[in-house]
Amino acid sequence: MTGGAGFIGANFVLEYLALTENSRVINLDKLTYAGNLSSLAAYSSDPRHIFIKGDIADRALLASLLEEHRPSAVINFAAESHVDRSIHAPEAFVQTNVMGTFNLLESVRVYWQALGEAEAAEFRFLHVSTDEVYGSLTMDEPAFTERHPYAPNSPYSASKAASDHMVRAYHHTYGLPVLTTNCSNNYGPLQFPEKLIPLIIHNALAGKSIPLYGDGENIRDWLYVGDHCSAIRAVLDKGRLGEVYNIGGNYEKSNLDIVHTVCDILDELLPESSHRPHKSLIKFVSDRPGHDRRYAIDPTKIATEIQWQPKETFESGIRKTVTWYLENQSWVEQIVSGEYQNWLAENYGERG
Ligand code: NAD
Ligand code: TYD
Repeated sequence: MTGGAGFIGANFVLEYLALTENSRVINLDKLTYAGNLSSLAAYSSDPRHIFIKGDIADRALLASLLEEHRPSAVINFAAESHVDRSIHAPEAFVQTNVMGTFNLLESVRVYWQALGEAEAAEFRFLHVSTDEVYGSLTMDEPAFTERHPYAPNSPYSASKAASDHMVRAYHHTYGLPVLTTNCSNNYGPLQFPEKLIPLIIHNALAGKSIPLYGDGENIRDWLYVGDHCSAIRAVLDKGRLGEVYNIGGNYEKSNLDIVHTVCDILDELLPESSHRPHKSLIKFVSDRPGHDRRYAIDPTKIATEIQWQPKETFESGIRKTVTWYLENQSWVEQIVSGEYQNWLAENYGERG
């Protein structure tokens, strides 16, 4: 797998190794600001987890890793993933999400074409993508199905869309056995505090303002990260080759609703806090340029074809998440580095 030191990838490694006894994970990650090896500390000396620091665009490294470890599947989590960063500095998104995925596909194609017939038939390349490739919905439009036209609006979603198209092309042109998943917004443990939910918790605990872009009425469809990981395992196991599966849990919420829910849980769990009510910290700030209004996933295909369902409700998942952050403040503190401080100044400084 690639990107296994990031938010979703690390959750995937932790769950996968806990669930399987005889499998090995070869984890290739560049360790950008978003990658954090301490998330994987539980498996740092476990021979089933082999970590390699490197770039998915490095073809020589990929060729040697594929040859040495001979994986039965490659799962591509690695990406630049933050929309706001893609607005400030889009080039890294093209480099990793587009060129990186292309180089990974090329390396995997060469490896797969040299496999024996039985191994080649078993092999899978699973590409982890996002619902943001479909663009923005109005309030009364139906949720995204897999047939919804692509209409990406940010440099992030455009770069992910390009990677999805390349994955599709490798199936149609070369027959590479690919699967693509397009998931809604994730939340849960180990998410970098530049994304909305951990940012709310981080700022609320410090008594800092909680910035809401625009009118706070933008809607996202939220899924607990463990449910995303179980969906990826299910698609890897049962997905039809060349198919796309949308992943979501039918939990559409406005950003304002999310902030209120998290603040209410913090008020309850921290009765002594001097920052209560935490809602008083909400501050409306200038909007994100090109801010998509609404995302919503129609999960009918994965539910009916693969019988996947999320386990967490939003209520249970968000409570688990807030509790995890309260109990793991040291994890947050050690990743909130100098680089992160520069990002805060750059992104929020200009919003007023
Ligand atoms: P993240 O930013 O937390 O982690 C990305 C990881 O990829 C980091 O560990 C980083 O070091 C690594 N990486 C970046 N560039 C790399 C490169 N060139 N080579 C190797 N490793 C590199 O991201 P995430 O939230 O865990 O998202 C993982 C994947 O899931 C991404 O492809 C993203 O588009 C997709 N996705 C995310 C969400 C979400 O809500 N977070 C929703 C749907 C889909
Ligand atoms: P984010 O976590 O960046 O995910 P995405 O943009 O990929 O959906 O943002 C989720 C929503 O929260 C999005 O509508 C933007 C909004 N948002 C804020 O209002 N304030 C913030 O400080 C951040 C980071 C996001």
